[in-house]
Amino acid sequence: MGDRGQIEEIKSKLDIISVIGPYVPTLKRSGRNYFGLCPFHKEKTPSFSVNQELGIYKCFGCGEGGDVIKFIEKIDGIDFPKALEVAAKRAGVKLNKKISPEQIENAKIKENILKANSLASEFFQYILLKHPQGEIGREYAKKRKLTKEVIERFNIGLAPGGFENLKKFLIKKGFKPYDLVKWGLLVEKNGRIYDKFRSRLTFPVIDHQGDVVGFSCRAILQDEKGPKYLNSPETLVYQKSRTLFGLFQAKEAIRKSGFAILVEGNIDLLSSHKAGVENIVAPLGTALTIDQINLLKRYTDTVYFALDTDNAGQKALLKDLDLIDQMGMNAFVLDIGKFKDVDDLIVGGENWQEVVGKPVDIVLYFLKSLKTKYDLAQPIEKNKYIRQILEIISKIHNPLLINDYLNKLASEVNIDIKILFSELNNIKDYLQKHKLSELPSDHKISIEIKEARQKENLLFKYLLALLLNNQEYTSNIKYSEIEDLMPDELFKKVLKSTLSGRLIDKMDEEELKLYSDCILMPIDSFEDQHQFDHEINVIITRLRKEKINSEIEKIKGGQNLDLDDVEINRLTVLIKQLSSLK
Ligand code: CTP
Ligand code: MN
Repeated sequence: MGDRGQIEEIKSKLDIISVIGPYVPTLKRSGRNYFGLCPFHKEKTPSFSVNQELGIYKCFGCGEGGDVIKFIEKIDGIDFPKALEVAAKRAGVKLNKKISPEQIENAKIKENILKANSLASEFFQYILLKHPQGEIGREYAKKRKLTKEVIERFNIGLAPGGFENLKKFLIKKGFKPYDLVKWGLLVEKNGRIYDKFRSRLTFPVIDHQGDVVGFSCRAILQDEKGPKYLNSPETLVYQKSRTLFGLFQAKEAIRKSGFAILVEGNIDLLSSHKAGVENIVAPLGTALTIDQINLLKRYTDTVYFALDTDNAGQKALLKDLDLIDQMGMNAFVLDIGKFKDVDDLIVGGENWQEVVGKPVDIVLYFLKSLKTKYDLAQPIEKNKYIRQILEIISKIHNPLLINDYLNKLASEVNIDIKILFSELNNIKDYLQKHKLSELPSDHKISIEIKEARQKENLLFKYLLALLLNNQEYTSNIKYSEIEDLMPDELFKKVLKSTLSGRLIDKMDEEELKLYSDCILMPIDSFEDQHQFDHEINVIITRLRKEKINSEIEKIKGGQNLDLDDVEINRLTVLIKQLSSLK
């Protein structure tokens, strides 16, 4: 829907600032860009940047970025065609419904994948409920106490043993084997094409529109050699990081109850439904992602964690909490006591609804649960306990809460709150530094722009950003000199575009990405030409030094000190050049 010309027309008629403004009340102009607090993640200092002329935005904190249509897509949680409609309406452009051949082709493929998945789901369920071959599945379901209601509500099925059951069925329905391989229902090995899922309970993964986008399939055979779960690959219709198992069946209950429960296992989720608790989702075996949290955010801002009580589950809990807090959601823990997981608790006869009715504050939960892991009579053990708790508290931003928690910890371990407070600050500092060095280079800009500037690979971006954002001061710049220092063709290309004022719609995707990253980069503003020249000189000198240093390193060739005369002469020249730069 909407050809390229129309998209450009809409974008040119829409002022990106007036679209984004209402979502970012802190948005303020600074130099050529606007900055504010990112609406896609929680932050205290602005790293969300918008350029009005180009109609683009980028958050240097979470990496989210794009044009005005992408913004509408993300903020409203809708897909591209819908966002385009919204944008067209605002811009007063009437969309002609002409669709490109490529879009038609993609839409057809998507439709076919969904059709094949839906038929497969019906096929599997028929086997489980009616077919003689379904007996082992029915036995397993009985053993796991999965009721008929749950089986029907989640369209659970059985992929029978044997290699060509689904294959024959779908070929009869007109599908081509190679397509089915691409879509993850069949596999190809040594020239043979056969069913991917065999002797497994099949759990269809359903998206928010109710379509079957993939399968998560649990082994049921005692002597199964494959993994416990076998999952569909990602396809045109399935992105794991954007899907939550059970959300389709849970959304009404989440809205009504005001919170969502998060469990690890598909089986935990099904047991919970059976026990009458329906506001529950599971992330299909992966760590929680920002996209999944955004999905949940459409229905609630509160999550109750009920992860497995083993070490892996508790680690996952801490990691997820970090993200949940950053995303501005409230989190609680459900205490499942001595049980391994929610299924274990329900099968064990406990009252799950009662547990759900008593969400526990996260810090208090860990104060209690970690206490059993350490012998607090031993100073070193006690120290470990305190550090773990402080690390959890360090993720919290509300000072009143922090004070409360520290008081609780102080009385728990009998240590002065002042000492705990200063230790908390040490831990925060440490974590902040640690986090910085772990992040991929692109994200470092966001967090500590000053520190990031020190990094070599970002220096070029910073230089480009300076030139792009201060064109009133660039008349003295010697571009050939800078070009010489640029590391690769892409940088050179963007530099040239800057020079020639080339239009951005002539740039290729790679070029455009670097260009918009640079133009949106938050940089200090300059008072006059002199200040600007100074900054440019500092950067160029640093780049020169790096270039010379790397040539020196190359000549030295590691530890090898056997240099010939030519090399020694060259080294002398380089070292002289280097000292003249100081
Ligand atoms: N998972 C997966 N691949 C695996 C193992 C697990 O995709 N090899 C995912 C599944 O979505 C599973 C979840 O991780 O539901 C949690 O794993 P686990 O606790 O092992 O499975 P349960 O569904 O809880 O099954 P059970 O109760 O039989 O242990
Ligand atoms: Mn489990």
